[in-house]
Amino acid sequence: MVRILAISGTPAVGKTSVAAALKELLKAEVISLTEFVKSRSLVDSWDKQKDTGIVDEDRLREALLKEIGSFKEKSIPWLIIEGLLADVVADACDYAVVLRLHPRVVKARLEQRDYSESKIAENVQSEVLGTCTYHMQEARGNDFYDIDTTGKTISDIAHLITDLVDGRVDRKAVTPGLVDWISDPDFDLIGTFQDNTKKREKKIRS
Ligand SMILES: Nc1ncnc2c1ncn2[C@@H]1O[C@H](COP(=O)(O)OP(=O)(O)OP(=O)(O)O)[C@@H](O)[C@H]1O
Ligand SMILES: [Mg+2]
Repeated sequence: MVRILAISGTPAVGKTSVAAALKELLKAEVISLTEFVKSRSLVDSWDKQKDTGIVDEDRLREALLKEIGSFKEKSIPWLIIEGLLADVVADACDYAVVLRLHPRVVKARLEQRDYSESKIAENVQSEVLGTCTYHMQEARGNDFYDIDTTGKTISDIAHLITDLVDGRVDRKAVTPGLVDWISDPDFDLIGTFQDNTKKREKKIRS
């Protein structure tokens, strides 16, 4: 029977990269939500301020549940669903992971992309606040792995996940709630939020 794993996390934490590594390790099929949403035209509208598409989560869930149903008929060992919105079907999965990454590294990775400063700040703030973890908790309580990937290679993370699902390592270390960037003395939390507020004020005035 196919085992299903959902992988969520803030943009650029490494969901697609880790899913590709797991595809090899687990002989898995992968559904990438970025592509799935595009191919099914599930973007409803465009949020100009956030510079991002708005996805109808009910339609996404419905389409994904159908897709999961069709995968269940195939004889594959694993199906991985990876993307920012993977929590929308996480209750229908056997396992779920939220990849976490130090906000400083999230920021550096997003700066490599063609994102506006406010879009970068928005996503860094999401990581600071643990938004994806919060959504996963809504879907599954504490029945998922909240993994701090900072300083780990893609291969380390993929192997950690296979060890977790096979019960080879204690899941206590990845219990939701342990990753806490807010108390991290190495991070200028107030600066991150102020930066974004200042930029917004500037935008409004100009
Ligand atoms: N563990 C890692 N160590 C170093 N670099 C990494 C790691 N994981 C991912 N990266 C790099 O970070 C960038 C973003 O990775 P990736 O595209 O997998 O993230 P994502 O979570 O799928 O992002 P998105 O939400 O935008 O789809 C890529 O350039 C990737 O090579
Ligand atoms: Mg991706």
